[in-house]
Amino acid sequence: ETGYGPEDVLKFVGNESVVDHFKLVTKDGNSLLIGARNTVFNLSIHDLVEQQRLVWTSPEDDTKMCLVKGKDEEACQNYIRIMVVPSPGRLFVCGTNSFRPMCNTYIISDSNYTLEATKNGQAVCPYDPRHNSTSVLADNELYSGTVADFSGSDPIIYREPLQTEQYDSLSLNAPNFVSSFTQGDFVYFFFRETAVEFINCGKAIYSRVARVCKWDKGGPHRFRNRWTSFLKSRLNCSIPGDYPFYFNEIQSASNLVEGQYGSMSSKLIYGVFNTPSNSIPGSAVCAFALQDIADTFEGQFKEQTGINSNWLPVNNAKVPDPRPGSCHNDSRALPDPTLNFIKTHSLMDENVPAFFSQPILVRTSTIYRFTQIAVDAQIKTPGGKTYDVIFVGTDHGKIIKSVNAESADSADKVTSVVIEEIDVLTKSEPIRNLEIVRTMQYDQPKDGSYDDGKLIIVTDSQVVAIQLHRCHNDKITSCSECVALQDPYCAWDKIAGKCRSHGAPRWLEENYFYQNVATGQHAACPSGTKHHHHHH
Ligand SMILES: *[C@@H]1O[C@H](CO)[C@@H](O)[C@H](O)[C@H]1NC(C)=O
Ligand SMILES: *[C@@H]1O[C@H](CO)[C@@H](O)[C@H](O)[C@H]1NC(C)=O
Ligand SMILES: *[C@@H]1O[C@H](CO)[C@@H](O)[C@H](O)[C@H]1NC(C)=O
Ligand SMILES: *[C@@H]1O[C@H](CO)[C@@H](O)[C@H](O)[C@H]1NC(C)=O
Ligand SMILES: *[C@@H]1O[C@H](CO)[C@@H](O)[C@H](O)[C@H]1NC(C)=O
Repeated sequence: ETGYGPEDVLKFVGNESVVDHFKLVTKDGNSLLIGARNTVFNLSIHDLVEQQRLVWTSPEDDTKMCLVKGKDEEACQNYIRIMVVPSPGRLFVCGTNSFRPMCNTYIISDSNYTLEATKNGQAVCPYDPRHNSTSVLADNELYSGTVADFSGSDPIIYREPLQTEQYDSLSLNAPNFVSSFTQGDFVYFFFRETAVEFINCGKAIYSRVARVCKWDKGGPHRFRNRWTSFLKSRLNCSIPGDYPFYFNEIQSASNLVEGQYGSMSSKLIYGVFNTPSNSIPGSAVCAFALQDIADTFEGQFKEQTGINSNWLPVNNAKVPDPRPGSCHNDSRALPDPTLNFIKTHSLMDENVPAFFSQPILVRTSTIYRFTQIAVDAQIKTPGGKTYDVIFVGTDHGKIIKSVNAESADSADKVTSVVIEEIDVLTKSEPIRNLEIVRTMQYDQPKDGSYDDGKLIIVTDSQVVAIQLHRCHNDKITSCSECVALQDPYCAWDKIAGKCRSHGAPRWLEENYFYQNVATGQHAACPSGTKHHHHHH
């Protein structure tokens, strides 16, 4: 078995006398910025040692007002929720600022942060630190998914001055945002929300992907400051069958990754999904192709014609021209029928199917649930096949490292392999963030070569970094043990007689290395006692 000892773990604990509520991670060159309570910590990626920090506490007046309005002292702090390096030497941060969100821009010079500008953070940053929000910078403009009021009842997708329709359950219905990114002409948002289309008794939460066009300028007159391009679709993460088993509640999503899956070259987003807290406990990882998402937005719209009727696809003949929700460069010239239609029809009829036709990893366990995901895309193995290595964080401190062993050969098959369950945290806290980071190596040829990477694990009270693999481990002493790991980062070096890791000299030459991620067996491995790898 592999395994990380204490010597393999870098740790940053901040101020040990209080809980720092570490949460956000942004990379700035070879530094890691960690957004926490009243503080942005700037750590070296190399050793997780603090280099400098920005302390930003709420002004006394704001804290007092927050307490007067009935919030407790824990809530009346400044929780950093947005952190962007808009240009080298500058830092843009937004914080909850005791339920009065603010955004500051700082100039960084000789480990000092000088306040350059400050502005209201309403509609950009949440009021309540517990609210699940997201933001992304695209073409120098900030897009956010958050709530725009004190009570948290006014959800919004915002880019100054455009917003989604206010207090309109057709638009956003009590959403929890998990991520956002930009690609091509669009900005995408992932979230879960109360499903308007679920008309049985009780309520259901569904997962969504929404998108807006970067060129959207809003509509004319009464549609001013409203998106003309906001559309959303349901994400279908389920175990197929006569009665599919659904994981409806998205918790986190990876970056967009681009790769080769069998004969298909695709851009994918991986997400972790849970079942509702009052049902059979379960978690799953599903992937979605950007193309499948885009296809739903080109498909039929969904509508409910009467108060008790089912939600059904809109007949294409009823859809006005120009098509509502598309990317129109001059959205201010769009005619009323198009704008009226999109106001009430942001939901698409078709659901986004899971890539690989099913979840990639499923856990039904009462002990823990998945919370976070990070994907190291397209790790090239000796012989040339590439695999996405998936790291999943849980609510009790464990990390599951896994791979779909079929993914190099097929776009619709899954054999999920758990390479390792990593347990490196001293406390079993929920994992709040997971990131894969690589530093530039200045001592190597400046051809863009990167180091072998680290996994950054963030909980409320600590930031931990570990290597992405531990192939040259004392316990792995034979070829068959090394190959049985099915770890794309590890292969058996037949000349040196060692389990070596990704990036070793001649790594890509099949003649020097034995590996088989798909089966975990290699005919050329010298026979001997074959140890099976056990998972717990
Ligand atoms: C830790 O936090 C406490 C309470 O906020 C503060 O008084 C103290 O100065 C902090 N210590 C450090 C080293 O930042
Ligand atoms: C982080 O620290 C490094 C080293 O001190 C510095 O070069 C960099 O500008 C800092 N970045 C931010 C955003 O604070
Ligand atoms: C934010 O998401 C977490 C994890 O899913 C959840 O436990 C929490 O209740 C959410 N916050 C709010 C205010 O809904
Ligand atoms: C979700 O996908 C499964 C598996 O492909 C399919 O059987 C099911 O009908 C889909 N459900 C919805 C609501 O689209
Ligand atoms: C719309 O405008 C953007 C920037 O102004 C430009 O890059 C894009 O090509 C235009 N698209 C169309 C369809 O005209």
